[in-house]
Amino acid sequence: MRVCSALSVTMHCLPIALVLLGTVSLFTSCYGAPHSSTVRMVTTEKTQTKPNSTMVTPGANGTMKPTKYGDEDLGEPILNERRMRLSEEKTVDKKANVTAKKKVKVVKTVKVLKKPKTESPKAKGKPEEQCPPLGLESMRISDYQLRTSSIKRFGLGSHRGRLNIQSGIYDEDFYDGGWCAGEANKKQWFEVDARRLTRFTGVITQGKNSIWTDDWVTSYKVQVSNDTHTWKTCKNGTEDAIFNANKDPETPVLNLLPKPMVGRYIRINPQTWFENGTICLRAEILGCSLPDPNTVFLWEHEPQPTDKLEFKHHNYKEMRKLMKRVNEECPEITRVYSIGKSYNGLKMYVMEISDNPGEHELGEPEFRYVAGMHGNEVVGRELMLNLMEYFCLEYKKGNPRIVRLVTETRIHLLPSMNPDGYEQAYKLGSELSGWAIGRYTYQGIDLNHNFADLNTPLWEAEDNEQVPHKFPNHYIPIPEYYTLPNATVAPETRAVIDWMQKIPFVLSANMHGGELVVSYPYDMTRSYWLAKELTPTPDDSMFRWLATVYATTHRIMAEDNHRICHNENFIRHGNIINGADWHTVAGSMNDFSYLHTNCFEVTVELSCDKFPHEVELPTEWENNKESLLVYMEQVHRGIKGVVRDKDTEKGIPEAIIAVDGLNHDIRTAIDGDYWRLLNPGEYEVTAKAEGYHPSTKTCRVSYEDRPTICDFYISKTPKQRLRELLAKGGKLPKELMLRLRQIRNRKLKLSSPK
Ligand SMILES: *[C@@H]1O[C@H](CO)[C@@H](O)[C@H](O)[C@H]1NC(C)=O
Ligand SMILES: *[C@@H]1O[C@H](CO)[C@@H](O)[C@H](O)[C@H]1NC(C)=O
Ligand SMILES: *[C@@H]1O[C@H](CO)[C@@H](O)[C@H](O)[C@H]1NC(C)=O
Ligand SMILES: *[C@@H]1O[C@H](CO)[C@@H](O)[C@H](O)[C@H]1NC(C)=O
Ligand SMILES: *[C@@H]1O[C@H](CO)[C@@H](O)[C@H](O)[C@H]1NC(C)=O
Ligand SMILES: *[C@@H]1O[C@H](CO)[C@@H](O)[C@H](O)[C@H]1NC(C)=O
Ligand SMILES: *[C@@H]1O[C@H](CO)[C@@H](O)[C@H](O)[C@H]1NC(C)=O
Ligand SMILES: [Zn+2]
Repeated sequence: MRVCSALSVTMHCLPIALVLLGTVSLFTSCYGAPHSSTVRMVTTEKTQTKPNSTMVTPGANGTMKPTKYGDEDLGEPILNERRMRLSEEKTVDKKANVTAKKKVKVVKTVKVLKKPKTESPKAKGKPEEQCPPLGLESMRISDYQLRTSSIKRFGLGSHRGRLNIQSGIYDEDFYDGGWCAGEANKKQWFEVDARRLTRFTGVITQGKNSIWTDDWVTSYKVQVSNDTHTWKTCKNGTEDAIFNANKDPETPVLNLLPKPMVGRYIRINPQTWFENGTICLRAEILGCSLPDPNTVFLWEHEPQPTDKLEFKHHNYKEMRKLMKRVNEECPEITRVYSIGKSYNGLKMYVMEISDNPGEHELGEPEFRYVAGMHGNEVVGRELMLNLMEYFCLEYKKGNPRIVRLVTETRIHLLPSMNPDGYEQAYKLGSELSGWAIGRYTYQGIDLNHNFADLNTPLWEAEDNEQVPHKFPNHYIPIPEYYTLPNATVAPETRAVIDWMQKIPFVLSANMHGGELVVSYPYDMTRSYWLAKELTPTPDDSMFRWLATVYATTHRIMAEDNHRICHNENFIRHGNIINGADWHTVAGSMNDFSYLHTNCFEVTVELSCDKFPHEVELPTEWENNKESLLVYMEQVHRGIKGVVRDKDTEKGIPEAIIAVDGLNHDIRTAIDGDYWRLLNPGEYEVTAKAEGYHPSTKTCRVSYEDRPTICDFYISKTPKQRLRELLAKGGKLPKELMLRLRQIRNRKLKLSSPK
């Protein structure tokens, strides 16, 4: 979800907005910031981690060295890991306070716990207190089920009273983040129609999310009814219970009812509110449906997943256990490895799925999904775990689609790029973690701004007309400042960059949450002063296709008139958007992936709710299952082949594949194999390599999702043959000896005059 969330706008940008008195200025100050060198990675923050220069070689030339990641022994105990401290620590503030957290870390010594106390609050307690949310946040509850006594204006209507709903961020935005009553008195109410008899067990509230005013409710009563005429007020003994509510706009506050109440309707009736504000709130209701013969509503025709998968939130330990189990059940097609460790020492596990795990096979494209770079956007993580289970099960059943994917593709699933952040959000649970807790790494770094900004050097070179003869249009080298020891580069980011350089990935998607849209590169605006601007890549049509494939097969996005999540309507653009045209991000993973490696990557915003309750997970799997598979299949679009030496027939690594009319080349992998994603059409393709004559041929891409094979045999230039012979220093054939002498003579002549 977006970078400068309304929350952070409130925190960072409001003062500026007030001073400058204008939205435009607000934007420049807020979104323009990432372009200043401070935010662009090289910050001077005290987060001086341990940025050891194990930093990957800056040279982008690196043909992925065939270094392999070792298999993971998942049997080792994890209790000794540093992470145990994490579960001990107190909840930290929304705004990462690095110094404070560090202190905590120093004080706490490694304490081995038998059992990490990381269960979500709801999981504890008695069965009757375990009721899940009705789904105001997840949109399971429709706008028609929400009513209020009065509203301030439509943009603050009852349909806005959903937990974690986000305000607009422009002056003219119609929507604001919450329901606000039209009057300020104790007669106001916010009502939810559960549409069936329900045992209500609790209420969660937040204030209004807004960049303009502060409003929240500090106490309320709760009433329940079967018919909206007679209401029973929740009692505390003999008195009406008055629940203490919010102290700020953002932190969700849960109140469990002293005794569960049964009814169809529930009202929140504010009693007091922030003294200088008015009555505004966002809410979620906890309740369990009861059998009710009188209700004629057919319960939502939710498709019940037929796949028998583990639908629950998995913390680090549980995730590891699941991956281990899948690996044990399907050892012939899976392998678990780790690409590195988080700041707190949690391993970044990857599940590899392939018919030859652990090996790159000539001509077989490599695909990756990355989830959880924002630790509190958890749907992707669970989908990745579902997906690996699903692959194992279906492969064993002989599902032809899965068998084909497994045999023709090498798939890598990274469920948790920011495991520390996840654990933080997980501890608070799906309803109480709010909108931002766990987004950042333990060091307070937003990983999606933490990659090297390669757009700027490329665009500068383009503006100076140096591309491609002086500056490459692909494989952009990492700038030196990014590799300095004082660069703020998270260990998680380093691990992923290293991974990207080692494996010749062709296609990827990175899973986020908090919206419903697929965004594609570039993520950064070319006019650096603009907060948003359409900034297409040379491969725009391919990227739009990739984004469209996911969006049109996603069960909710594909619905013509689904409810918008917060304040932006992506539906009329087919639920896809150019990243920079949404909001600019410098140092995003998508842009880095495209500019530094061959890999095309899009961002998928999977659901309105960043951390939905466990009960929503089967639905999320159903919503995304087809999209996840069909998107993977796109790795087989376009052309692929091997560039070989005509004489030796050996594959040539680092050979450049240039497509006429597309100002973005790709390169062959270590064995000379390459993959070039392309939409259907006819293309002039040139293969070139240092010391070889380039070779061009026409390659036709069809509508099938089968790649067209375009192999190249290229021959060395005479100069190169000579160079190699010279280097060998061996016995030379006569005619070459002759030429060699000629060249030496020429050299002598050239150097003698001086
Ligand atoms: C980082 O170190 C380099 C050289 O050591 C220095 O030139 C640069 O100013 C430093 N950057 C920051 C942000 O401290
Ligand atoms: C940095 O890495 C080098 C080896 O690459 C190692 O000798 C050194 O101890 C490391 N320093 C830190 C602070 O981790
Ligand atoms: C990458 O480039 C550097 C400098 O240009 C060179 O020393 C190195 O050998 C190259 N690496 C590969 C794998 O081509
Ligand atoms: C961080 O926390 C420490 C200790 O609680 C406090 O003294 C300091 O003011 C905080 N800093 C920020 C920026 O919130
Ligand atoms: C609603 O009806 C149910 C079942 O008839 C009853 O148990 C419950 O007490 C009623 N609730 C209210 C608020 O009247
Ligand atoms: C219930 O009454 C007790 C005792 O007066 C009081 O401490 C508590 O805050 C009350 N709780 C609510 C929810 O009104
Ligand atoms: C409410 O507004 C008054 C007058 O502007 C101010 O003095 C007071 O501090 C404000 N109260 C709060 C809690 O902000
Ligand atoms: Zn995100």
